[in-house]
Amino acid sequence: MNGKMADRKVLRVLAGEAVWPPPVWLMRQAGRYLPEYRKLRAEAGNFISLCTTPGLATEVTLQPVRRYGFDAAILFSDILILPWAMGQSLRFAEGEGPRLSPIETEADLAALSAERLVPATEPVMETVSRVRAQLPDETTLIGFAGSPFTVACYMIDGRGGDFPRTRAMAYENPSLLTAVIELVTSATITYLSQQIEHGADCVMLFDSWAGMLPPDLFRAYVMHPTARIVETVTNAHPEVRIIGFPRLAGVMALPYAAETGISALALDTAADPALVAQLLEKPMALQGNLDPLLLRSGGEALRHAVERIARGMAGRPHIFNLGHGIVPETPPEHVADLVKWLRALEESPPDLISAP
Ligand code: CP3
Repeated sequence: MNGKMADRKVLRVLAGEAVWPPPVWLMRQAGRYLPEYRKLRAEAGNFISLCTTPGLATEVTLQPVRRYGFDAAILFSDILILPWAMGQSLRFAEGEGPRLSPIETEADLAALSAERLVPATEPVMETVSRVRAQLPDETTLIGFAGSPFTVACYMIDGRGGDFPRTRAMAYENPSLLTAVIELVTSATITYLSQQIEHGADCVMLFDSWAGMLPPDLFRAYVMHPTARIVETVTNAHPEVRIIGFPRLAGVMALPYAAETGISALALDTAADPALVAQLLEKPMALQGNLDPLLLRSGGEALRHAVERIARGMAGRPHIFNLGHGIVPETPPEHVADLVKWLRALEESPPDLISAP
């Protein structure tokens, strides 16, 4: 075990060690539920400036770590910065979510340029370096990207929703969908490698919409590109672990875990972590999966769920997290409670409780 891994609990779990109580960070731990985020967000004016101004993005990344002492920081950025960096127009409409100029034809795709990616994401890499330099030594820095399929959904439909254009394209113009996914796959390899070279300790692939596809398309558009990313990134950086999040993929999470080469599987709210652990072909770290709406509601029910999830995974490599991102209405005190209740489990180690 190298020195870095000995110090950073999240990296120890990613290497297969069971740590008690499990280390914790939360998806969307930086964001609108925090007053200090809303202040900087207002200063930045628009969301893309917040992501691409290293001074602001660094501060926003560090805010939740300072407030709660999380075991990991996640780079503050967005999965849609990647198509934006290749030249696709992007704006975040107030209260409506992202809007992109949709890719409808081969010509729309040809207008994007992979060469723009590295110069356009320089501020993001500067943020990664600054965050790593300012984080406590024991805190893991997680870099990330969207998975090609999920990013392609926004690129093709131009907005969130249930992505009717992307799903129709899979049947009506599969060569264009494949070309979009190929461009995003190679860009993602470059983008994640750069984050690692600037100081990210591990990386996560967010596939928020993976669960929409039938199994054959899931293999082609989710598993295959993911496997290519994992293989290429880990060839260049063999020490780096990759967390995959095939949200709502159900039983397809099993072949995804077995065949893509990822080191850890992030579970959505619907999965039973202990059951997934039993079903996995080869043991691997699991991350998740408290319901973000229970975090918003708080109280005794939250405390019980935190303990149930942690205890259900006791003795297995587990990183505590949510099943999806924190919702903006979440009271910040509930997050403090979650961390406090989880860390209090140190007093009742897994060998003193009945085996899961
Ligand atoms: O703290 C963190 O988790 C790191 C930063 C992060 C953001 N987005 C910040 C953000 C990460 C890892 C993401 C990932 C992301 N972005 C995903 C995958 C995970 C998921 O939630 O399913 C997706 C699908 C996106 C695309 C996206 N970005 C949408 C649909 C929206 C609008 C919805 C919303 O919550 O506003 C965003 C905007 C966004 N990304 C915000 C934040 C903090 C809110 C923007 C604001 O402050 O106005």
